[in-house]
Parts: sequence; C-alpha cells; structure tokens
Amino acid sequence: MENFETVEVTTDLLILGGGMASCGAAVEASYWAKQNGLKVTLVDKAAMDRSGAVAMGLSAINQYVGLKDGENSLEDYVKYVRNDLMGVAREDLVASIARNVDSSVHLFEKWGLPIWKDAEGGYVHEGRWQLMINGESYKVIVAEAAKNALKEVDGEIFERVFIVGPLMDGDRVAGAYGFSVRENKFYVFKAKAIMLALGGAVHVFKPRSTGEGLGRAWYPPWNSGSSAAFTLEAGAEMTCQEVRFIPVRFKDAYGPVGAWFLLFKSRACNFRGEAYMETRRDELQNWLPYGSVKPIPANLRNWLGMLDVMDGLGPIYMMTHEAIQKLAAAMPDPVEQKKKLKELENEAWEDFLDMTISQAILWAATDTQPEEKPSEIAAAEPYFIGSHSGASGAWLSGPEDLQTDATKADYFWGYTNMSTTKGLFCAGDASGASSHKFSSGSHAEGRIAAKGAVKFIVENNTQPNVADDVEALKTKVVAPMALFDAEKGKTTDPDINPAYIRPKMYMFRLQKLMDEYAGGVTAQFATNKSLLEKGLSLLADLRVDAEKLAAEDLHELMRCWENVHRTWQAEAHVRTVLYREETRWPGYYFRADTPKMSDDWFCFANCKYDPSSGEWTMLKRPIHKIVAD
Ligand code: FAD
Ligand code: ADX
Repeated sequence: MENFETVEVTTDLLILGGGMASCGAAVEASYWAKQNGLKVTLVDKAAMDRSGAVAMGLSAINQYVGLKDGENSLEDYVKYVRNDLMGVAREDLVASIARNVDSSVHLFEKWGLPIWKDAEGGYVHEGRWQLMINGESYKVIVAEAAKNALKEVDGEIFERVFIVGPLMDGDRVAGAYGFSVRENKFYVFKAKAIMLALGGAVHVFKPRSTGEGLGRAWYPPWNSGSSAAFTLEAGAEMTCQEVRFIPVRFKDAYGPVGAWFLLFKSRACNFRGEAYMETRRDELQNWLPYGSVKPIPANLRNWLGMLDVMDGLGPIYMMTHEAIQKLAAAMPDPVEQKKKLKELENEAWEDFLDMTISQAILWAATDTQPEEKPSEIAAAEPYFIGSHSGASGAWLSGPEDLQTDATKADYFWGYTNMSTTKGLFCAGDASGASSHKFSSGSHAEGRIAAKGAVKFIVENNTQPNVADDVEALKTKVVAPMALFDAEKGKTTDPDINPAYIRPKMYMFRLQKLMDEYAGGVTAQFATNKSLLEKGLSLLADLRVDAEKLAAEDLHELMRCWENVHRTWQAEAHVRTVLYREETRWPGYYFRADTPKMSDDWFCFANCKYDPSSGEWTMLKRPIHKIVAD
C-alpha cells in the first residue's frame, strides 16, 4: 500500500476507454477542444492499437446506411432496428447514429482501411447494411487517427490504466479513479465531463468453453462490465439491462456467420438436413408483428434453431459446401466455375482470418475444407453488448432536433448522449436502447457524445469538487493485494485459503449461478421468477465475499476489479429479467413462467442504483415511435 504512488490528473474532458466509440470521441473532441481551448485526456486499460472488441480485426463494417447515394433512408434503418429488437428501441438515438455513421466509414477509408470494391468502384455489400473490408488492421488504423487528433491538441493518453469507478460531486460526475496494471500507481482523474465507453461484458455467464478452452468466447475477454458498473455507481439510470445478446456462431471457435448467411446465402440445417428457418416457420406466428418482418429478428432466428436443439435434432450445421458449390455452379462455363470456386474459398478463409483467427485454426485442425463439408454452429452463452444485437446500457438524452412533442419530455434533458448523471456521457456498448450500431456506429456515436460533452463543458465551465475520500478509495482499490500478502502463508496451496477468494474462483462462482439461475447455456436459456429470486440471493452472498478478493500482483488486481464489475452487470441483469414479466426475445432468454409477449410490457424496463442508500429502483419508460410503421 505504501508503495503505491498517487498520480493526479486534471483535465476538461475525460474519455474513458480506447475502443471504437472512444476513438471516434477523441477525433471529434480534439476538433472542438481546439476551438475552445480545452484539455482532453483518454484512458484505456490496454493499448489502444489493439484494444476492445475490434482488437483482432473485423471482416465487415456492419452499419453503413448510404444516405447520400440514396441507397436507404434514415427511416429504413430505424425500422430495421426497431423490428430486430421486438419494438424496443430509442428511435431518436438510433436515427442520431444512423445519420452520422456514413461519415465515420468514409473517414476509415480515408485513413487507409481497405473496403472491398466492385467492378464499378462501389462498395461490396455483405447484406443491405453491411460492407466487406480487409479488416485485420481496422483497430490500428482507427486508433492511429485518434492518437494523431489528440496529439494536435496536446491531449494526454494513459494506456494500461484500469478504471475502477467514478468520482462524484453530488449529482455531477467529477472524474474517475483507477490503477496502472504495470506500475504501483493509483490514478485520480479530475474532469468537467466524461465520455464513457468501457465496452460491454463477457464471462458473466458460464461460457461453453470451460477448462479445455477457457477464455475463448465470442465477445472479447477483456471487456468485463466496466461501463455498467461505472454508470450504476454514478447513479445513472440504465435501460434494457435484460436485453443480453446470444450470437449463433461456428461452434467452439465462435467464427462469424454473417458472411455465410448474407454473402454466401447459406442455409443452416439439422442432422436430417432440414432447415429450421423453413420447417419452423409457423412458430413465427406466435411473435407477431415481429415474426412477420424482414429480416426475421436475430433472436427469433436463434429461437427457431433452439427449438430443433431442444427436440434433440442437433448438430446444427452451416451448409458451407452447399452454398459454395451453388454460387460456383451459377457461373456460365467450367473455367469460370473453377475460378469462382477458388475466389469463394479465399473469401471464406479470409472472413475468419480477418476477425476470428481461432476459427481458421480450428478448420485447419479438424481438416475442414468449407467447400467440401459443413461446419457445426451453436448458440453461444449470453453477452452484454449494446452496440450489436443486444441493447443494454445507460439511459441517455437524445438530440433535441430529433424529438417530437410526444418524445421530448421523456427523451431529452439538455445534452445529446448525456446520461441522467450530470456530465456523464456514454457511447458504444455503454449506451442503451440503440442497438445495431456496431463498429462504425459506435465510432459515430462516440463523436456525437464527445460533441455533446464539449458543449456541456463550455456551458458548465467549472471544475467540480471531488466529494469522495480519495485515500479511502485507494485503500479499497489495493486491498486485494494487501489481503493476499497478509494471508498467503497460512496455507500450503495459495489457491485454497479460508481468508480470501482468488478472482478466478470468484468468477467461476458468478458464472455458475448466472448459468443455472438466470438462463445460461446449461438451462437452455430458460429461467423463471423463483430461479431469478434464488439467483439474486446468491448474488448478494457473492457480493459479501467480493470484500475478500485477493490479488498476488497487479495483473490479478485487475482480475479482481473486472469481476466486481461483472457482478454489477449480473445484478442489473437479474433484477431486470425479473422485473419484465413476459418473454419478448425468446431466442435470448425464455421466462418459462411468463412465456408470451405482452402488450403491458411494450415499454423500456429501466433500473437505477442509489449509491447513498444502496437501493435499486425499477421503472417503466414509454416507447415512442418517431418513424411511422
Ligand atoms: P470496444 O471497442 O470494445 O472498446 C472498449 C474499450 O474499453 C477498450 O479500449 C477496452 O480496453 C476499454 N476498457 C474496458 N474496460 C476498461 C476499464 N475498466 N478501464 C479502462 N479501459 C477499459 N462490428 C462491425 O461493424 N463489424 C463486424 O464484423 C463486427 N464483428 C464483431 C465481432 C465480435 C466478436 C464482437 C464482440 C463485436 C463485433 N462488432 C462488429 C461490433 C463492434 O466491435 C462493437 O460494436 C464496437 O467495438 C463497440 O465499441 P465500444 O467502444 O463500445 O467498445
Ligand atoms: S459479427 O458481429 O460477428 O460480424 P455476424 O457475422 O453474425 O456478426 O453478422 C454480421 C451482420 O449480419 C450483422 O449485422 C447481423 O445482424 C447480420 N446477420 C447475420 N445473420 C443474418 C441473417 N441470417 N439474416 C439477416 N441478417 C443477418
């Protein structure tokens, strides 16, 4: 403890996270900071070049609207998102991102990201909204632009600093505290406003890959619920905490399916060769009006496949061989067919090599040639990712110009993308009810939020007082290391000790209870009121033991706090699944005691934690359409 130096940094705008949204925020904030003489500081737990969900690269940009070329309208995108989420979307926020996303994509291209082009020089689409890219270096390119922009305004970047929680001045955020994962340093960041984008959460639920492949998941293991923990602890209202995302992915290595379904037009079939999207079509009638929209919502696509699995009809296969052969056979002559086959094989491998290298390795290890045999797919464990096909995140003010008379009182409180906590702005996975923004939309939303935050600073240009006891926070943050040092000698095996719990064991306990009580893989994604109440009680016990987390070194200290953050995400989730007494997204979770969708629950289910009393409040918020059906 006495070895930990306290480093204090004072800034105007504090950008938390170094992922897609924060990179967008850095570019935009630098522009406005220059005009207003403001200081911008960015903090990432990792190295920005390869941090966050895009670290490994991506093979597609999943949100491109093509507004200027008249490819689609804003209304088209809003309807797509609304339908995919079974009606639950903040249409003002979705429209706000959609009208800005194309310019982020054009910037990526300008900065050097190769986007596939067709013979006429137009973008190659994977699907209606998705563009194909050679994206192995996507994050490096986007991070470089962010760093260059910050350099222009003498902004500071702190890498390998883990943010633990907020500093408050009453109802206004005053900064953040955390620690270096490489040096014995405790950090205190004081700021006039914060743009928060610490990603979503994985490993809250038990993953399919356990001992043999522990750590392998679809969502990147380094995003551990810090956004949810930070916003909850800052007293901000949260939304859609029940809307987890379950991606269907190539089994065991979690390779993406989008290119297969959309670009290669592949089918997925059970062991009998039946395509569940055809044989189970009648089931969609139970989920109207969303069962009849196109494309069929992601959770309903999942659900039809899950019904096959529950009937014992697995394995489910992506029919890669069939799709490739069919596309090649459509060419006019044998020479062209052979050429096309080669081209498709290359594209299939590149899709994985660009963003999920382990899937390519698994193909190689299992002697799989996609043009020759199918590959198994499966529904993954639940994740929290507000930027993809989930929706969990903070409840934010929308832009004023997108409000109607009906929406303004509910959706607008002064600054675009500000949470209900003054000065705390959110984007990407940290912001809720604005799904399907993906990498490009998260970047655009980071820009929007940063612009809002600078406006807030200019109009509220005082440095808030930090009301928290910083020394007490420091003691709390490093306590796991002190505990380990004090107690480690009491047993011969440092993993087994009555005085403490190591973070890995704590994580296993969290995952087991979430898996079994909150509808994880083992429970076939089903739960009910009794199970959830039991889960909540076990979570309360776990929270008590969180006080006894122990860390051998700085890396393990990070693991401790990651798991505390996961616990916040878990509790917000369980409470909200319990609160919403219906099943609205059957392919994400199934409330067996309330198995149908109900008009009474056509609303947002929000929650709020009061840091002073420790009480949770659950509340309904209305859904307003800003785009007509
Ligand atoms: P991230 O980009 O994940 O950034 C989070 C940042 O927070 C990171 O820098 C991280 O290091 C930092 N951080 C986390 N916790 C802390 C802490 N406590 N302290 C300090 N820093 C912290 N989108 C597409 O457009 N196309 C695709 O093909 C595509 N494929 C995807 C595949 C996968 C497997 C996943 C998970 C996502 C995919 N996406 C895709 C979506 C896209 O990656 C996300 O929408 C986007 O990255 C979200 O941006 P973000 O800034 O919110 O989070
Ligand atoms: S990724 O995040 O790992 O790239 P994935 O490859 O599954 O996701 O999907 C990429 C994009 O295609 C997303 O926008 C997703 O919603 C969409 N998508 C995937 N499968 C389908 C499908 N069967 N029908 C319509 N859209 C789909």
